[in-house]
Amino acid sequence: MAVWLDILGALWLFLPAFVANMSPVFTAKLIPKWGTPIDFGAVHTDGHRVLGDGKTWRGLLLGGTVAGITALLQGMFPVPLFDTLDYGRSLGAPLWGIFLFGFMMGGLALTGDAVESFVKRRLDKERGAPWFPFDQLDFVAGGLLAAFAFYPLLPTGWVMDHYATAWTLATLIIGTPVLHLVVNRIGYWLRLKEVPW
Ligand code: CTP
Ligand code: MG
Repeated sequence: MAVWLDILGALWLFLPAFVANMSPVFTAKLIPKWGTPIDFGAVHTDGHRVLGDGKTWRGLLLGGTVAGITALLQGMFPVPLFDTLDYGRSLGAPLWGIFLFGFMMGGLALTGDAVESFVKRRLDKERGAPWFPFDQLDFVAGGLLAAFAFYPLLPTGWVMDHYATAWTLATLIIGTPVLHLVVNRIGYWLRLKEVPW
C-alpha cells in the first residue's frame, strides 16, 4: 500500500514536468502561427537542422508557463492523499516561489527535450522519428535537474526530502518509459493510435 502511495506521490510531484511535456502538441494546434523554431532555422555543419521545426519558442515558453501554473494550483489546493506534497506551501513557501519552481521544471524539461532533438539530428534521425527510451527520458532528466538546481525556492530540505528518495527517482526514471509504452499500447489496441509506440 505504502509503495503505491510512494509511486503515485512521485508522479504527483513531477506533474508540472509531465504537463509541460504534453503541452507543446496542444499549443501547436492552438497557436500554429507562433511557430518560430528555437534554432531559427539554422543548419548545422553536418547539413541537418540544429534542432528542427519541432522545437519552438512557443512550446518551450508556454510549456514552462503551464508547468508553473500546475505547481501553483497543486500548492494552493492540496489533495487529501498528497497533502504534504504541496511544494512546501503549508510550510510557508511563497506562491511566486512555487510558480517559479514549476516554471523552471517545465522549462528545463523541454530544454532536455530540445537537447535530445539536437542529438537526434546529429544521428540523422528526421523530425518525429521515435528514439526509445530517450524520447521518454529527456524531459525527466531536465525536470529533475531543475528540481535539484532550484531547491532554494522552496522551504529548506523540501526538495531533498521529496525528490531524492529511491521511490521517486525509480518511478520517474524506470516508470516513465514503461508507463509511456503501456499507455501507447492501450491507445493502439483501442485504435486511438496508428502505431503501437
Ligand atoms: N513542440 C513545439 N515546441 C517544443 C516541443 C514540441 O512546438 N519545444 C511541438 C511540435 O509541434 C512537435 C510536437 O510538439 O512536433 C511534438 O513534440 P516532440 O515529439 O518532442 O517533437 P518531434 O516532432 O517528435 O521532433 P523531434 O524528432 O525533434 O523530437
Ligand atoms: Mg523529444
